[in-house]
Amino acid sequence: MTKRIGVLLSGRGSNFEALADSISAGRIPNAEIAVVVSNREGAPGIDRAHARGLATRVIPSKGLEREPYDRQVVAALHEASVDLVCLAGYMRLLSPHFVAAFPQRILNIHPSLLPSFPGLESQKQALDYGVKFAGCTVHFVDENLDAGPIVLQAVVPVEDDDTEDTLSTRILKEEHRIYSEAVKIVLAGKFKLEGRRVIQLR
Ligand code: GRF
Repeated sequence: MTKRIGVLLSGRGSNFEALADSISAGRIPNAEIAVVVSNREGAPGIDRAHARGLATRVIPSKGLEREPYDRQVVAALHEASVDLVCLAGYMRLLSPHFVAAFPQRILNIHPSLLPSFPGLESQKQALDYGVKFAGCTVHFVDENLDAGPIVLQAVVPVEDDDTEDTLSTRILKEEHRIYSEAVKIVLAGKFKLEGRRVIQLR
């Protein structure tokens, strides 16, 4: 049966597009994007979703408390019969209500090797700290910031002449690759959780 993905974003939407491209190309089999939701009006990712003929919802979060807002989003995802929620540049923490509505069925992509550099401007944090290797992480989402069990990571070397821009671009390329790979693994159920460890079943 075709699995239905709900994508949540707040901005540009390049990770969303990478997922959409992977589905079209068959790299993520038996899946479709059921709805793309933005908490921000005017998010470019929503225009991109629209241009692809996908269902979109803008549910503005401004001025709302976390849980009442999340109840609206969860309702929209249920309406679209979503099996898996993919956060793709979604700039909000999820409430316990949201997390409980989709147990082990919410993924996020983060542009650092977690648990290093959670939060905002991770690439700048990595450069400022002086690490020699940066990267990205796909993880299950809980109610804490960038904190759930890790599905996949990719390592990206930091070059001496890197700027935030050049490093971010190199990391983004890997984000697009591992997010699709992780979605494929999770949708196929080819993993088990042992404590915090996500063990891939082959
Ligand atoms: C990505 O770097 C992602 O890892 C982070 O926010 C950025 C979103 O970019 N969570 P995009 O909107 O997917 O292009």
